[in-house]
Amino acid sequence: MAHDHDHDHDRHDHDRHDHTHLDWAAMAPRLESQAELFASLYERALGWLAHEVTEPGLIVDAGSGPGVVSCLFAETFPGARIVAVDGSEPLLERARVRAERLGVADRFGTIAGELPDVLDELDYPADLLWASRSLHHLGDQRAALAAFAARLAPGGTLALMEGGLPARYLPRDIGFGRPGLQARLDALEAEWFTRMRTELPGHVAETEDWPALLASAGLKPGRTHTFLLDLPAPASDRAREYVVGSLSHLRERIPEGFDADDLATLDRLLDPDDEASLYRRADVFVLEAHTVHTAVRAV
Ligand SMILES: C[S@@+](CC[C@H](N)C(=O)[O-])C[C@H]1O[C@@H](n2cnc3c(N)ncnc32)[C@H](O)[C@@H]1O
Repeated sequence: MAHDHDHDHDRHDHDRHDHTHLDWAAMAPRLESQAELFASLYERALGWLAHEVTEPGLIVDAGSGPGVVSCLFAETFPGARIVAVDGSEPLLERARVRAERLGVADRFGTIAGELPDVLDELDYPADLLWASRSLHHLGDQRAALAAFAARLAPGGTLALMEGGLPARYLPRDIGFGRPGLQARLDALEAEWFTRMRTELPGHVAETEDWPALLASAGLKPGRTHTFLLDLPAPASDRAREYVVGSLSHLRERIPEGFDADDLATLDRLLDPDDEASLYRRADVFVLEAHTVHTAVRAV
């Protein structure tokens, strides 16, 4: 829900109790349908990047997930080879199936392993390294950016999608409950995100000034641009499903002591039998903003 915060499930089985560790493979269908819903945003971001870089030979998608964006790269840059890198082999399997289906498999590869060290397995330096909503899952973001930068060819570009604005799915006043529910849920999401980060292995607290961090990785900061996903009401079935999924996942993580009226409002929104639920109401929309920062390695 909040800007680039993912609606992720628990990661390592043995850590399931803490609700901040994530099981990426279990999230595959959700990650895939979310990225598909976001296709227009990614297409605009990649179109913008195409003006920032000149004919990249090798594009690396670091933390690619199921490869929806990796395949969009293959389509946007028909002369490039794409390598999708991720910690989850089941997600990469989906990426390969997608590449096959789209007819780009001959210039599409995957590497499974923990970022950033797994990048050592790349055979060639990257002309463009893209990391979309993956860096914030790495404990030491500064060190990871330095490792990303080290894998760039001279003149290569690092493009980072991090940050933006909290998402909005409903009007401020939805006709019941206290107006402004989503703003209060944003605060919860921000707390959850902070806890998720502090529990990452090797967590280092960092000021999230992305251009400054890119500069500290030895790169020359380029441009920053924010892309909007604006899917107005009435929501398509897919958009509605995404909103239900996002708020359901948030509902699962509501801490003890959360405001009882807000909880009742959320439960009504998530009850398919309720006329005023997300399943039936006409005013559901998706409005999100995601920011991309670029930086270039000196020639
Ligand atoms: C929120 S998803 C983003 C997927 C995709 N980039 C997108 O924007 O749709 C984060 C991805 O980072 C991967 N990831 C998280 N931590 C990782 C790590 N330590 N090493 C490798 N991949 C990791 C996850 O498996 C997941 O696919």
